[in-house]
Amino acid sequence: MRTRRAALTAIAGAASLALTLTACGQNGSGGSKEDTGSAKGGTIGIAMPTKSSERWINDGNNVVKDLQSKGYKTKLVYGEDDPDTQVSQIENLITQGVKGLIIAAIDNKSLNNVLQQAAQAKIPVIAYDRLILGTKDVDYYASFDNEKVGVLQGTYIVHKLGLDSGKKGPFNIELFAGSNDDNNTKYFFGGAMSVLQPYIDKKELVVKSGQTGLNQVTTLRWDGTTAQKRMEDVLTSAYKSGKVDAVLSPYDGISIGILSALKSDGYGSGSKPLPVITGQDAELASVKSIIAGEQTQTVYKDTRQLAKVAATMVDDALNGKTPQTNDTKTYDNGTKVVPAYLLQPVSVDKANYEDVLVKGGYYTDAQLK
Ligand code: GAL
Repeated sequence: MRTRRAALTAIAGAASLALTLTACGQNGSGGSKEDTGSAKGGTIGIAMPTKSSERWINDGNNVVKDLQSKGYKTKLVYGEDDPDTQVSQIENLITQGVKGLIIAAIDNKSLNNVLQQAAQAKIPVIAYDRLILGTKDVDYYASFDNEKVGVLQGTYIVHKLGLDSGKKGPFNIELFAGSNDDNNTKYFFGGAMSVLQPYIDKKELVVKSGQTGLNQVTTLRWDGTTAQKRMEDVLTSAYKSGKVDAVLSPYDGISIGILSALKSDGYGSGSKPLPVITGQDAELASVKSIIAGEQTQTVYKDTRQLAKVAATMVDDALNGKTPQTNDTKTYDNGTKVVPAYLLQPVSVDKANYEDVLVKGGYYTDAQLK
């Protein structure tokens, strides 16, 4: 009941945001098209991290679609998770004369030099989903409330184990975090630990591996195979007796790796049920896994909305309008606080996926079969 209500509230929130964004898109392009004319028809460069994850493919396509509908041409590149490749791709985009840049960084600290070139060419830069660190040459940030993502994951685990309704455990939990060169990682982990740590302190949650520090649990480039390997090692070294009851996973691709390790160890059959396992992005394979009763939860972030925010930001910046932001405090990149527009993530599990993802038009029932 509770999750259903939460889902409906989320849908209502997303719908009203969509209206706001449409309205501001119309204002943005309406008068300014004829007034300034300058950037319209120009090309916007979009640099995405990798095609190996479905979400970034959708992000790229959605940004292209939104920019084209505002009258821009686009150049979309993928850096295949290699920071140097991404830097040279962005250099090329600048050389080719793009008017604006939308960048989802691979390594948040590797872009300083190339962004200096963008600034010299007066190209506005929007950090997409991941904040770019250590440079003044990033103008705006479009993302989700990243700490809330972690809070949703931690809260889900606590609720599912019954710790918030009087059960005392102790339950065994293992912790995974994202890539250490992604600024989001510390927000996701921090948000989750703000909920989990009090239960670890009370020993109602026990991390048998002892690996609780962020630097012990990160997963370079969010790689599922790396996570699978670590889960296998943890199972071998810390679970000669006892079983894992929950796994904090920050991202669906990592959850898939963790599930493989667990299944190879006999979880999901006989006396070892699969643990509660979280995720993020509502990727198709993971939503199917949730429906099949393997992964337990994911955090849905509507990439259609994120694309719209980023496209509107770059359009406004190029047309003398101040892009709309709703957070001017949180995202300090070490050189400046980057004004941000943060969207709201939504917790999704077997009970509400139909309401949120299917009724919300993200997937059709046929895709989830
Ligand atoms: C993060 C992003 C997550 C997930 C992850 C791996 O930066 O916020 O939603 O996609 O990268 O791709």
